[in-house]
Amino acid sequence: MKRLGILTGGGDAPGLNAVIRAAVKTAIYEYGCEVVGIRDGYDGFLNEGGLVPLGIETVRGILPRGGTILGAANRGNPYARKVIRDGREMVIDVSDEIIKAIKRLDLDALLVLGGDGTLHSAHELYLKGAPIIGVPKTIDNDIGGTEATFGFDTAVTTATEAIDKLHTTAEAHHRVMVLELMGRNAGFITLHAGISGGADVILIPEIPFKFEAVLAKVRQRVDRGYLFSIIAVSEGATPREGHQVFSRAGDEVYVPRLGGIGQVVGEYIEQQGFETRVTVLGHVQRGGTPTPFDRLLATRYGAAAVRLAAEGKFDRMVSLQSGRITDISLEEAIAVPKRVDIHEDAVITARGMSISFGDE
Ligand code: F6P
Repeated sequence: MKRLGILTGGGDAPGLNAVIRAAVKTAIYEYGCEVVGIRDGYDGFLNEGGLVPLGIETVRGILPRGGTILGAANRGNPYARKVIRDGREMVIDVSDEIIKAIKRLDLDALLVLGGDGTLHSAHELYLKGAPIIGVPKTIDNDIGGTEATFGFDTAVTTATEAIDKLHTTAEAHHRVMVLELMGRNAGFITLHAGISGGADVILIPEIPFKFEAVLAKVRQRVDRGYLFSIIAVSEGATPREGHQVFSRAGDEVYVPRLGGIGQVVGEYIEQQGFETRVTVLGHVQRGGTPTPFDRLLATRYGAAAVRLAAEGKFDRMVSLQSGRITDISLEEAIAVPKRVDIHEDAVITARGMSISFGDE
């Protein structure tokens, strides 16, 4: 292996820089290999100035930094790229151009750090001849075939801190506090932060909820002498009689943007006579310095991905299984998105402690 490429696709997640640093150091120190960074996801193959040499000096000091030194692009699907041609906006497939660029650059391997969408395109590009290895990134933790994606632990930490802060003010004012959290169609962030922060109600996409059940929990707490409640609601949570709430419709390039269910829940509770406030934590969950868990996981992933590249094991994704780093086929990783198993012990534990999921 002489030349290795690295790109970060999709939305950012804390730990991207830790992966880049580990991959660059391993590639240079262990394999004496040259490393090229591709800026702004796959766009870097097409844009002027889209490539950057990555040396030991480039990655110095980036381990604790959030974001990505390479830039990210969540509109970077090679099969649906928005361009202006003859003054008109159109969506085109640029996958062949990307394959040509990879060949022109003489890349022996390309590490693609991405979530669901980016890894899908990575597998497609492999089928067209690109020597790709995937690294699972997302705060949502919704990628199949791995116990953890890097970025998730940091997002849960941030969300838990938010619940802790809401607790004190909720108690002081005898209010209901609703906190809307990210995660798309997976409830991992809300479940883990909800339990860790001591929420009274946890609403996740995997368990459709009834408004009356949420209200019943708030009332029960008042009957038990607790005049405040904390409701953690995932942006993808779905009312049993209703639908998910979106803040923006999707199109050929962007997926629909979830958002607004917290407000809907908050307004309902307020109408029933309980003073309520709604907080949407939003992109705060994606920022900041990665936790030690994420730094370690990202570092192990980055180094393992380079080892796979050196062995020529393409179309694979590094993954965490039973605490060990291993790898699975990209096809398997993208086949079924991971969701909260509603029979898992975290859910059972929460139920046993009288935390409501709004379903009974
Ligand atoms: O997939 C990560 C994520 O942060 C989701 O939790 C959220 O729904 C989405 O990305 C937000 O995307 P954007 O950065 O495009 O607003």
